[in-house]
Amino acid sequence: MAAELMQAAQRMRAQAYAPYSRFTVGAAVLDASGAITGGCNVENASYGLAICAERVALTGAVAAGRRAPVALAVASESGSAPCGACRQVMLELGPDMKVYLGAADGRVTETTVRALLPLGFGPSDLADADAP
Ligand code: THU
Repeated sequence: MAAELMQAAQRMRAQAYAPYSRFTVGAAVLDASGAITGGCNVENASYGLAICAERVALTGAVAAGRRAPVALAVASESGSAPCGACRQVMLELGPDMKVYLGAADGRVTETTVRALLPLGFGPSDLADADAP
């Protein structure tokens, strides 16, 4: 299943809209039901508005009603690790996910959300908040 998920992420790379950085990234989320949701990075002429592939995939899964993500595969040329903002979103939406980072040459690094964001700030930190 991990291999199939990485293949989906590699395929999503081809959909990337990255005319500014030329750094294309694909991502694929596996849900507990077995469904896979893909994403790619989407850049903007206002550079700071670029959205990473991981967040496109994770928010797309939510929009599709797939709220039990178990694994995330990310594919890039170098097999790079997710940015800090994406790690935070991963902690929110899939804290127990396995994460596979794939390079174009076929190398895959396996890790977890907890390993990528130790001591992260998450939903449980708000449990004691005096929210209305
Ligand atoms: N990017 C991702 O999509 N995911 C990552 O894990 C790192 C960076 C994108 C954002 C931007 O479109 C391009 O890669 C260069 O930073």
